[in-house]
Amino acid sequence: MSHEALENLLKEDRVFEPSLEFAAEANAQPEIYAEADADRLAFWAKQARLLHWDQDFTQVLDWSDAPFAQWFADGRLNVAYNCVDRHVESGHGDQIAIRFEGEPGDQRNITYSELLAEVSQAANALIELGITAGDRVAIYLPMIPEAIVAMLACARIGAAHSVVFAGFSAEALRSRIEDASAVLVITADGQNRRGSVMPLKPAVDEAADTSPTVRNVLVVKRTGQEVEWNTDRDIWWDDIVARQEPVHVPESFPAEHPLFILYTSGTTGKPKGILHTSGGYLTQVAYTHRVAHDLKPDTDVFWCTADIGWVTGHSYIVYGPLANRATQVIYEGTPDTPDQARWWDIIERHKVTILYTAPTAIRTFMKWGDEFPQSKDLSSLRLLGSVGEPINPEAWMWYRDVIGGNACPIIDTWWQTETGGMMISPLPGITGTKPGSAMRALPGISIAVVDEEGRPVGNGGGGYLVLTEPWPGMLRGIWGDPERYKETYWSRFPGWYFAGDGAKLDTDGALWLLGRVDDVMNVSGHRISTTEVESALVSHPQVAEAAVVGAADETTGQGIVAFVILRGGITQPGGDGSALIQELRQHVAKEIGPIAKPRQIMIVPELPKTRSGKIMRRLLRDVAEHRDLGDSTTLADPNVMNLIGAKMETAPPED
Ligand code: PRX
Repeated sequence: MSHEALENLLKEDRVFEPSLEFAAEANAQPEIYAEADADRLAFWAKQARLLHWDQDFTQVLDWSDAPFAQWFADGRLNVAYNCVDRHVESGHGDQIAIRFEGEPGDQRNITYSELLAEVSQAANALIELGITAGDRVAIYLPMIPEAIVAMLACARIGAAHSVVFAGFSAEALRSRIEDASAVLVITADGQNRRGSVMPLKPAVDEAADTSPTVRNVLVVKRTGQEVEWNTDRDIWWDDIVARQEPVHVPESFPAEHPLFILYTSGTTGKPKGILHTSGGYLTQVAYTHRVAHDLKPDTDVFWCTADIGWVTGHSYIVYGPLANRATQVIYEGTPDTPDQARWWDIIERHKVTILYTAPTAIRTFMKWGDEFPQSKDLSSLRLLGSVGEPINPEAWMWYRDVIGGNACPIIDTWWQTETGGMMISPLPGITGTKPGSAMRALPGISIAVVDEEGRPVGNGGGGYLVLTEPWPGMLRGIWGDPERYKETYWSRFPGWYFAGDGAKLDTDGALWLLGRVDDVMNVSGHRISTTEVESALVSHPQVAEAAVVGAADETTGQGIVAFVILRGGITQPGGDGSALIQELRQHVAKEIGPIAKPRQIMIVPELPKTRSGKIMRRLLRDVAEHRDLGDSTTLADPNVMNLIGAKMETAPPED
């Protein structure tokens, strides 16, 4: 589409209505909004009862100890039973649950019966290793079926998993193991990334060696590479899991039994362990996957491209889709291996019908060129989803046009690690969509956009996004830190959950997300706090001070830009400083993980500070985004910005 055509489309403020065919067959029909509005709790109870409860609940919500919620509290269920066994029991054991494709091209189809056998064996293995309900198990695995099996095995025996993204560093893994006192780590020898074999076990060794709570490390053989072995601690998955009985009787747990902890960045240097429990979480992810992704279990092939290390992988690879008896594609590797048509090749061969991905990926594919998707048959697709960051109208239109062939509704879904499942999204058979807008809250969810004082802004206004009623998938707290939970989410607007996002309502009442309003960056749909990167930088012996900002980036949404003051008043490191800058970038990768590597590092003589010593990030963002500097009169030393601005002009961006 030409730029002009796009401009015209957007100018018209065009609304894309669902086709009549799609609307007629959609899982959610228009009455759903009124039904939820009429009696929200009854609506949620109805969604919950689509799961299998070993013991039904009598109370839907207990909010008496707000903001600590209990949903379906006296109900009992087993999450893994709901995701696996019941589909086998209802006669769908031969349906493929997982169509796995490794990066090198190896394939493995796993039916629901096979998944049940494997999850049962893994559960028995965990029991043999002494894991009991309430224990925490760290999972540090690539995108292979064993990752899903491991998560479900934990859920089955009531152990909480803490999945750590396999791209995180040994130190990031260690601190998460420590925070949750994990007793077991499940990992692999390595993973396939971009045509090479990358080791995973060394990071686990480094983390486990200094984690006294870890009794064992369970290692999946994925790449077959050499690994160091600690015979007192390490066990091959194949040795212990394969010899177990493929039968395990699931125990039922209270609805509020912890299901998992997932760490995410906040505004301080220490990631928060977001706690989710069983019944409410499973209810919300199954419900949203049914109504927003519109899954038809008998005919759809679902593909969510997220990694299980993030909440999207938890909710829309493992729990939502499996609770709904989906057949889904799991892909291990990168989108450009062996070439830039890999995803489209996967869609063609597996006849994927529903694709759920992130705007960063879409923008990357736009940059690579239309010829790659156009070289494959994508006509199996019938619904497209977006998640993780604001999707710009251009990317939205390209997604619709080039990937969806102008025939697929797009759902732009807003939610967070904390919300457990989707909160704001069009319903594909009902809601007309505007390119770039997440449109409205899902049935059962209550939101508002408010000003500084908490007054709703109304249509045409912008402000802060808040969630005004509790919801079943909500986080139950921050692991080990109830005060931080109250303070972070519930103190800014008492009684309401403050999401940390800015939003506006257009004159038609459609909702547009405007990005974070706190010191959290969103890089390729991943949350990283500025403070975390700053702490990593100042832990380098040559760094005295650091300030980090997220600057607009065409592909990744935001890019990390760091301003660094060196120790000993050095303003000009030896040579052109590029060796040191590379070293600092590597240092951040080692401390946190490659995703946190700054895009640019500027060595500066001073940082802009207010007279009370607070760093003025707004000014740094202006510099990083090459804007004219805003008001700097509150600076202790107004000259600082001239020095920094001059630096930025001359410094080349890093690779
Ligand atoms: O800023 C919002 C952005 O991602 C944040 C949540 O990040 P995380 O917990 O890592 O979960 C990402 C996957 C759900 C939000 O506070 N975000 C997420 N989805 C959208 C979004 N921003 C705009 N539009 C979205 N659809």
